[in-house]
Amino acid sequence: MSAFVAPAERLRGTVQPPPDKSISHRAALLGTISVEPVTIRRYLDASDTASTLAAMRQLGALVEEHPDYVVVRGTGLREAAPVDVPVDLGEAGTLLRILPGWLAAQEGRAYVLDGGPGLRQRAVDRILAPLRAMGAEIELGDGGRAPLTVRGHRLHAAEHHLEAASAQVKGCLLMAGLCAGGTTVIHEPVATRDHTERLLRTAGVRVERTGSTVRVTNQDELVLDPISVPGDPSAAAYAVAAGLLVRGSRLCVTDTSVNWTRTTFLRIAERMGAIVLADLEEPSDVVIAAEPVSDLDVTAGPLLATEIRPEEVAPAIDELPLLALLGCFAEGTTVLRGAEALRRRPGDRIERVVDGLRGLGATIEATADGFAVTGTDGLRGGRLDAQGDPRLAMLGAVAGMASREGVEVVGMDEGATRYPRFLEHLLTLG
Ligand code: S3P
Repeated sequence: MSAFVAPAERLRGTVQPPPDKSISHRAALLGTISVEPVTIRRYLDASDTASTLAAMRQLGALVEEHPDYVVVRGTGLREAAPVDVPVDLGEAGTLLRILPGWLAAQEGRAYVLDGGPGLRQRAVDRILAPLRAMGAEIELGDGGRAPLTVRGHRLHAAEHHLEAASAQVKGCLLMAGLCAGGTTVIHEPVATRDHTERLLRTAGVRVERTGSTVRVTNQDELVLDPISVPGDPSAAAYAVAAGLLVRGSRLCVTDTSVNWTRTTFLRIAERMGAIVLADLEEPSDVVIAAEPVSDLDVTAGPLLATEIRPEEVAPAIDELPLLALLGCFAEGTTVLRGAEALRRRPGDRIERVVDGLRGLGATIEATADGFAVTGTDGLRGGRLDAQGDPRLAMLGAVAGMASREGVEVVGMDEGATRYPRFLEHLLTLG
């Protein structure tokens, strides 16, 4: 589907972002390893998270879906059901990286994990060496991608020094660590999103963090409290960007997780002069699913260029394309460095973002590990092909609202995998 997004006058109103995707995936998975039923309110209703529920059913969970909540009756930590056909993960890349950690500990059972054509292109190799160091037996398909085969064994704890920061790799090792004998230690170069740790703590699991090191000790069983999923800060970032860029805008993005591992985009935007009022400090007055939650009050205004530092890359990984868009409207040259990880994303996200924005009139260059974008007088507009990347589709829509001539976004429906009703939400503000 292609959609034309016209320039907007000034945005006013309130928008509630969809429930957080990362937390939804984890809630379904932790519900499955729990011995007692877990109620998940505000589970994200989108294609990837639906794939996660379907995969959990295949692995033995009973999942009841109600209009406002989901109940997961799990199998327990070491009792995933034997499955003699491939477990279908659809296009859920996050699950592809996290799930093997749990399955590798299902002694005497073997699982094949597979999914759609997009999933078969996702890199999964980074989980291999650390999982094998815990005694896991895991093999990848052709080219080091899915389908992958995991044979369950008794795992042992290990100490991991991860070369690249990745919440998915950490999540995978935490799952393995829950089942392995001893205390598993994970050192990350920079702390990444910590939703698994927070949810595990609500279940009484001892998960300790010092700086960017996390420790988890194996468990016999897990009992989770009911979970309510807060608003997704990565989805909220699109509305925030629209509010900052469309002249004269003032809007409120409600009930968003402001977990400090997810607020780097807001902090960089503030450094660029953006006005976003939020309660970003922890502990916060409002806590949902162990996540601090706040409204974000956004006012449009002039922006200044900034340098995005390498240590900001991992915690803002999903919002880096939006920072390129902000850079098109900021005075000076905004530079991103240290983001080679973006080149590993489907289709090379650096090239796609740079090509996409240049096609709309941006002065932007790709570098080996990032981009440099010089803010001129905003964006002309034009046509942007999302090429199957949901984030690029949503970026195109925000660019359209802020542009002089509007943007035709080819593949707008891709956005629905991340943010159902995204365009509708955005257009109601216009
Ligand atoms: C995610 C972690 C990030 C992020 C992805 C979701 C998660 O990936 O880009 O959208 O839920 O753990 P990496 O762990 O590869 O950085």
